[in-house]
Amino acid sequence: MYNPFTLSGKTILVTGASSGIGRAIAVECSRMGAQVFFTARDATRLRETQSLLEGDGHQYLIADLTDEEAIKQLAHQLPQLDGVVFAAGISQLKPIQVISEKDVHSIFATNYTAPVLLTKALAKARKLQATASLVYISSISGNGNTATALSLYGSSKSALSSFVRYAALELAGKKIRCNTICPGRIETSLLQNQTMSPEDLEKDIAKYPLRRYGKPEEVAQAAVYLLSDATQWVTGTSIVIDGGRTLN
Ligand SMILES: NC(=O)c1ccc[n+]([C@@H]2O[C@H](COP(=O)([O-])OP(=O)(O)OC[C@H]3O[C@@H](n4cnc5c(N)ncnc54)[C@H](OP(=O)(O)O)[C@@H]3O)[C@@H](O)[C@H]2O)c1
Repeated sequence: MYNPFTLSGKTILVTGASSGIGRAIAVECSRMGAQVFFTARDATRLRETQSLLEGDGHQYLIADLTDEEAIKQLAHQLPQLDGVVFAAGISQLKPIQVISEKDVHSIFATNYTAPVLLTKALAKARKLQATASLVYISSISGNGNTATALSLYGSSKSALSSFVRYAALELAGKKIRCNTICPGRIETSLLQNQTMSPEDLEKDIAKYPLRRYGKPEEVAQAAVYLLSDATQWVTGTSIVIDGGRTLN
């Protein structure tokens, strides 16, 4: 059956695949026919992801992406890839007056430095096929949508989105595409960790014209689109998935 979005025959790496959006992306890629390599730090949760994948031949690799040696080893262990989704990320509510240097390093190490160094390691190890698609999970917080106590998170995602545009230009010569997905709030553990009172939650949801937060699968389906051959002429761009949040 004709399906321009199939990932059949493609080998895809997904980071941050032990939960939330990364897990949903790994599952969706397997459903669309890809062989999926997926990574994070927690083996138990990675095994849970493995149990959700469709088909055979998928494999998880444990790596702490804040460690450059671990990134190099990961790149070394992987086969040639048709696509990579960089979903690993952390968030922390930090009012400006309590930000420490350690906080800055910690959030940038995971949200910015890790995807930059993994992109470099995969390119250097020649693990990216010509026409490979690289998809980076940024955020509307990095896209001008500000919120109190999220300056570090938002600026780390702005830096990531900016890097992706440079990478798209630089890697276009190798026919490698680089794009971002900028979600609004998605129902995952990352969101649950940001304690909000029921009243604040209600007020926040009211800012979304479609009156709810997103689901991990809704981001995963956009990742499938960008990984597929349907987007062979799409690079350096960003897909906003936010229930209309950035309209107001
Ligand atoms: N949820 C939202 O509302 C939302 C909105 C916009 C953008 N995003 C972005 O979407 C991405 C996924 O977020 P999520 O909501 O799915 O969060 P999540 O459920 O907390 O998942 C985060 C993932 O990142 C991995 N990770 C964190 N630090 C890591 C490290 N040092 N090395 C390797 N893996 C690491 C975690 O695995 P381990 O702990 O097992 O290592 C986990 O698999 C993030 O980049 C986030 O910024 C989320």
